[in-house]
Amino acid sequence: MSTAISPTAYNYKVVRQFAIMTVVWGILGMGLGVFIASQLVWPELNLGLEWTTFGRLRPLHTNLVIFAFGGCALFGTSYYVVQRTCQTRLISDSLASFTFWGWQAVIVGAIITLPLGYTTTKEYAELEWPLAILLAIVWVTYGIVFFGTITKRKTKHIYVGNWFYGAFIVVTAMLHIVNHASLPVSFFKSYSAYAGATDAMIQWWYGHNAVGFFLTTGFLGMMYYFVPKQAERPIYSYRLSIVHFWALITLYIWAGPHHLHYTALPDWAQSLGMAMSIILLAPSWGGMINGMMTLSGAWHKLRTDPILRFLVVSLAFYGMSTFEGPMMAIKTVNALSHYTDWTIGHVHAGALGWVAMISIGAMYHMIPKVYGQKQMYSTGLINVHFWLATIGTVLYIASMWVNGITQGLMWRAINDDGTLTYSFVEALQASHPGFIVRALGGAIFASGMLFMAYNVFRTVRASNPVEAEAASNIAVVGAH
Ligand code: HEM
Ligand code: HEM
Repeated sequence: MSTAISPTAYNYKVVRQFAIMTVVWGILGMGLGVFIASQLVWPELNLGLEWTTFGRLRPLHTNLVIFAFGGCALFGTSYYVVQRTCQTRLISDSLASFTFWGWQAVIVGAIITLPLGYTTTKEYAELEWPLAILLAIVWVTYGIVFFGTITKRKTKHIYVGNWFYGAFIVVTAMLHIVNHASLPVSFFKSYSAYAGATDAMIQWWYGHNAVGFFLTTGFLGMMYYFVPKQAERPIYSYRLSIVHFWALITLYIWAGPHHLHYTALPDWAQSLGMAMSIILLAPSWGGMINGMMTLSGAWHKLRTDPILRFLVVSLAFYGMSTFEGPMMAIKTVNALSHYTDWTIGHVHAGALGWVAMISIGAMYHMIPKVYGQKQMYSTGLINVHFWLATIGTVLYIASMWVNGITQGLMWRAINDDGTLTYSFVEALQASHPGFIVRALGGAIFASGMLFMAYNVFRTVRASNPVEAEAASNIAVVGAH
């Protein structure tokens, strides 16, 4: 097949590979999410085996959904967007292919090592040093492919979506390398180079910016390309997108201490983190408004286009979670929310509502294009998926709000003599109905992914590789 590709055509092969794996990892990661949510309802599901306990499967869930599902969506869409907006092929097919296989190897490594209990114990940075080094190599290669392609672009300016993807790539490399600095003592064990409060601060500088740059900035790159494309309208304000970019990347990096309120971290650092988090509301909403307003004059399309609905509703959840986040960063609010399910609800408002929904919308737009098809096999199934995703997300976050506030209030309730009004177990019992609703909401969301898999399968099966390559050639001459 590859011999038929003209050197001027885009490299869609690697995009196709990442797109398919986005769906595969999405199903596995979210399926595992439903399983661990069910373990919190029925603890017997821990199965009495150390490998299948909640404590070991939870980090596997986060690694699969963030790095496998989210990561493949980001790699795939960024390779697609950078080629089309720069009107040039990726600088190197072999390096691009290395990033695909290297990334899958890291994920398989996570699937093997995390259930076995090999972990650095740092959240979202659990992978032990051999895998962390592989990840760093893959990531630097990704940077070379992405920025290399930008340097040989045929267009004059660099489309704003690429700015967001670029910042996501550079900052993720920086965070990963600094936070992972450690001393290996064996093949499977290393100790952090930092200690005490410094270690905690570095970890949450990493953790928060994993949210800020991996789960936000990268997906904003996706937003800036796929929302205008699907709406067939130019972005609402190019000027706002530039202000949005610089404000977002300048502010995000300071907000990490809001994960460490009321800890041994110096008080000034906590207050600084809080202040920066509140200011962060402005650029976040600037971006959301820019995306939403792109639909001005095209709102009627929402009636008939479920892909656009995915994209717009994802922006609504983005707006919601970036309003909730700054509120939770206020120390007095955090005193109630921290350690409770409120945080988990906030996480999934961002993760399901924003990250997953924008990725799903982008995939439905992109997959037919890279397989030489006009559209997905079934628009009706996309619509079914949209409703399952929306209902699932709402059930998940609403149940976690109720649980979180209940837990926070029960934990802090005290009697006149200063003793606790409720025991921990009583708060846990009160949370049980919420756990059931969350598992149900998660199952509904995950079932939507199965509809997606079937729809993608039928689209791919109907595709003709020759037509796909021809379409890619046309795209070179056509507008992006
Ligand atoms: C069907 C969908 C999903 C279900 C049922 C689900 C379920 C869960 C559960 C039960 C937990 C542990 C909560 C706890 O410790 O109390 C969790 C944690 C987490 N999940 Fe999900 N999840 C789903 C999808 C996703 C997606 C798509 C993402 C990211 C893109 C994600 C990111 C996370 C993160 C970051 C955490 C850790 C939160 C924290 O430590 O505060 N999840 N999930
Ligand atoms: C302006 C934007 C945002 C701010 C200021 C913010 C703020 C916060 C705060 C204060 C917490 C609770 C920390 C704690 O008590 O431990 C938190 C947790 C979290 N947020 Fe956000 N948030 C924002 C947007 C988002 C978005 C869009 C996402 C997801 C895509 C997200 C994902 C997370 C995750 C994964 C955690 C849990 C971290 C952990 O403890 O494991 N946040 N955020």
